[in-house]
This record gives sequence, C-alpha cells and structure tokens, in this order.
Amino acid sequence: DWTMGAYREEAIAKIRAQVGDAKVICGLSGGVDSSVAAVLIHEAIGDQLTCVFVDHGLLRQNEAAEVVAMFRDNYNIPLIHADESDLFLSALDGVSDPEVKRKTIGKLFIDVFQKHAAEVGGAEFLAQGTLYPDVIESVSFSGGPSVTIKSHHNVGGLPAKMGLKLVEPLRELFKDEVRALGHELGLPASFIGRHPFPGPGLAIRCPGEITREKLAILRKADAVYIDQIRRHGLYDEIWQAFVALLPVRTVGVMGDGRTYDYACALRAVTSVDGMTADYYPFTHDFLSETATRIINEVKGINRVTYDITSKPPGTIEWE
Ligand code: XMP
Repeated sequence: DWTMGAYREEAIAKIRAQVGDAKVICGLSGGVDSSVAAVLIHEAIGDQLTCVFVDHGLLRQNEAAEVVAMFRDNYNIPLIHADESDLFLSALDGVSDPEVKRKTIGKLFIDVFQKHAAEVGGAEFLAQGTLYPDVIESVSFSGGPSVTIKSHHNVGGLPAKMGLKLVEPLRELFKDEVRALGHELGLPASFIGRHPFPGPGLAIRCPGEITREKLAILRKADAVYIDQIRRHGLYDEIWQAFVALLPVRTVGVMGDGRTYDYACALRAVTSVDGMTADYYPFTHDFLSETATRIINEVKGINRVTYDITSKPPGTIEWE
C-alpha cells in the first residue's frame, strides 16, 4: 500500500527526531494498536526500545501467553512480561464505580511503567498506541461545562509528574489505517485481525465489584463465545465481541435442582472506527446454541442475554 509505505517512512523519521538516542518503553497490551506502535518504533530506534507487557489480571483466557509468544516468535524486541495481577486486583478490591476502576487501573499502569522505565536504565519516553478516536473521545464537548465521556487510561492525561514524555506515532490514524500499517510492517494477519481489547480489560466487562471468582467465570464464558464465533466463521465480520458478567444472580433449574447463578450478556458489534456501532444480527440458531453451550460449560452462569444496543446511545463496553 503506497500511502502506508509513505506514512511508515515519515513516522520513522519523526520518531527518530523526537527520541534522539534516549530509551523508550512501550506498554504492550496485546492489541493491534500497541503492537503496531511497538514494531514501528523498533524499526525506528532498534533496541533503544523495550516493551513492557503488563498482565493486570484482567486479561482474557490465554491472552498473556499468546501475546508474549507472538512477540518472542516474530520479533527481536526486548520484552518484559510483568505479572502485576496481585497489585491491580487488590487495588480494585471493593471498587464498583466505573470511573474509579478506570482511574485506579490508569494510576497503577503509570506506577508499573515508571518502575520499568527505571529498570531499563532510565527510559525518557513512554510509547503508546493511541489512535485518533481515542484522542477525540477523551476531549470535552464544546459548549457548556466540560464533560468527559470516559477517562481512557491511555490518553493524554498521563500526569506530567510521571516524568516520561509520550511517543504516540498512531495519533492521527483510524483503526483501519493502523491495520493497513500493521500489514505494511509485516505483522501476522491473525494478529492484525484481532478484535480491539480495552486497556482496563475485563474490569469494565464485570460491572460492580470485581472478584477473582467472577473473573474466572467471565473468562470461561468469553472463551466459549469467541470459540462459537470462530466456528461459525463470523470473527472477521465483527468489530468486537465479548461477554459481560452481570452483577446479578438469577434463579434457574438444572436437572432436578434449583440454581442461583450469574447472568451474563453477550455483546457483538459492527463498526468502522469504534465511534459508532451497530449490534451484530446473529441468527436465533447461533444465539440459542451459544447460550446452551455457555450454560452447560460454564459453572456459575445460568442465564444468557444478548445486548441489542447500538452506539449511540450505548457504548461498546459496559462501563
Ligand atoms: P466505547 O465503550 O467507549 O469503546 O464505545 C470504544 C472502543 O474503545 C475501546 N475502549 C478502550 N480502549 N482503553 C483502551 O485502550 C480504554 O480505556 C478503553 N475504553 C474503551 C473499546 O473496547 C472499543 O473498542
């Protein structure tokens, strides 16, 4: 792609000019954005870059292992795999307000990055895969008082006290352009096609208080759901699909017994850039097969609903 080839060259020149011979750490989330940012920056400055993959205990099933393997197998980029799940989960203990969750997670990310910035011998820059839609959704509406839709943890507001300057080479791009750039940079197609995954992870797919027990249930249900979507060949038609575990238990029957377990909501949307979205029109057969599988295979869930809210008025995530 000619356009992305030119963009790549220009971005590399800008990164070199911004960074000079300083060290950079890049927060890797396993998503397309941060991966493309990392590969691009590595091409620009080589081993001045160290990637830090923070496992905050809020990842999907097998995600940490898959991401680390993808990077170690395909790239020679120095990579730190930081298991910080105890740190994040204990800070989130008892927290149910969505913005408090986001701020708690954002603050801990900063702490963890700062720690590693020091460990790699004094990194001066933090690289992030911030995209254009992240930038605009985080700014205030014009007119009236400032209203922030959400504090995307990976945007702008990183406090100056952090002492790290930001490198954000994807700030002008939309998702489809990032995917084109990833293709241009030779990232595996399976990786480029991954659904977006938010920085706060499963925390914002588990409304109410987060517990390890709930996260374990959510991970299993989510894995069954994604497996269903792949088996039916629908993964690439969908922008994003996931399960939200609801903070509500309902009564059911199974065999001769009464159950009292969690309800979950399936979410799947189509979108071009995440700014607006429509719910995906699954067939009834698909939905009932998936509900049956989740209830049979996931202990702790006895009711499955499908979220048919578009964006707007809903958001894609539940929090
Ligand atoms: P919403 O829920 O705002 O999501 O409609 C739009 C897109 O952004 C993702 N998202 C995030 N990504 N950090 C991220 O890196 C965040 O804090 C965050 N919040 C939402 C969401 O998954 C969807 O793709």
